[in-house]
Amino acid sequence: MAVRHYLQFRDFAREEYEYVFERTRWIKDMFKRYVPYQPLRDRTLAMVFEKHSTRTRVSFEAGMHQLGGTVITLMTRDTQMGRGEPIEDVARVITRMVDIVMIRTFEQAIIERFSEHSRVPVVNGLTNEYHPCQILGDLYTFIENRGSIRGKTVAWIGDSNNVCNTWLQAAEVFDFNVHVSTPPGYEVEPERAGLYGTDHYEVFDDPMKAAKGADLITTDVWTSMGDEAQSAKRKRDFEAWRVDREMMKAARKDALFMHCLPAHRGEEVAATVIDGPQSVVWDEAENRLHTQKALMEYLLLGRIKTQGDLWST
Ligand code: CP
Ligand code: NVA
Repeated sequence: MAVRHYLQFRDFAREEYEYVFERTRWIKDMFKRYVPYQPLRDRTLAMVFEKHSTRTRVSFEAGMHQLGGTVITLMTRDTQMGRGEPIEDVARVITRMVDIVMIRTFEQAIIERFSEHSRVPVVNGLTNEYHPCQILGDLYTFIENRGSIRGKTVAWIGDSNNVCNTWLQAAEVFDFNVHVSTPPGYEVEPERAGLYGTDHYEVFDDPMKAAKGADLITTDVWTSMGDEAQSAKRKRDFEAWRVDREMMKAARKDALFMHCLPAHRGEEVAATVIDGPQSVVWDEAENRLHTQKALMEYLLLGRIKTQGDLWST
C-alpha cells in the first residue's frame, strides 16, 4: 500500500477529517482524565526544523511521547543538511530508521522532494506555502466551540500567507466561505494556494467589510519567517489590517477570534481582542497537541475501531 503523507490540507478528504476529529475527541478526553493511551510504543518520530518553532515542536514531541513513542529533533544547522546534503539522500537515510517524519522548511517543493524518497509518512509542520497542522487544530477548535463549520463564514484579515492558503483549502474541503482582506500587493495567489477554484472565498479591499457577519475572525503575523527583510515596509502596508474591537463588532455577536501564534499585540491584533472574551487562542494552541496525536495515529495505524458517532462537520 502506498505511504500516506500529509503535505497540504487537501491531501485528506472530508470524511477522513471527520474520522481524525472523532479520534481527537477521544484522545483528548483520555488525556484530560490522565488515562494512558500508548498505541505507538516502539515508534519513532523524526522532526526536522529549518525554521523556529515553539508550538509545533512541543505539541509533536509531547504528543509522540504520550502515545508511547520516541522523538528525534533535528535542527538543520546541526546536521549534514546544513552543509548541503541533498534532501533526497536525507529522506532515503532517515526514513529507513524512523517511522514518521515531520518537517518545517521553506518551499513546499522541498517537502515534496523529501516525501518522494520517503518510506514512511511525512507531515508538513509549516512551509512557505502551507501550514496544514495549524488548520487541523483550528477547525477542531471551531467545531468544538460552535459545531459544524459548513456554510459558515471565516474572515481572514492580513497577509495571504501559508496559514491563509491553508484556510482557503480547508474551505473547499469543508464547504465554508472565507472573506479575505489583504493590503494591495499581498493578495491571494490561487495557484500558489493550491485551490481548485474561487467558489469558497471572496476578496474585500476593506477589512471591515470582510469582517461583517463573520462567524470567525482570524489573522496572523504581518511578517512570516523568511520575510524578515520586508518587516518595516510591511508594518506600514498592513497598518489598517489590525484586528481590533471595532472589527470584532462588525462580525457576528458570537464570533470567535483565532490566531495561530506567536502574536504581536498592537500589530496584527489589538491586545483587547486576543486577550478578550471572544478569543480562543489558548484552546487553539492546545488542540494542536490532540489533533496531531490523532493524525499520527491515523497515518501509522490507519483506521482503528471508532468510539462513537463521527462528528458532523
Ligand atoms: N503556530 C505555530 O506553528 O507555532 P510555532 O511556530 O511556535 O510552532
Ligand atoms: N505565517 C507564520 C506562521 C507561524 C506559525 C510564519 O510562517 O512565520
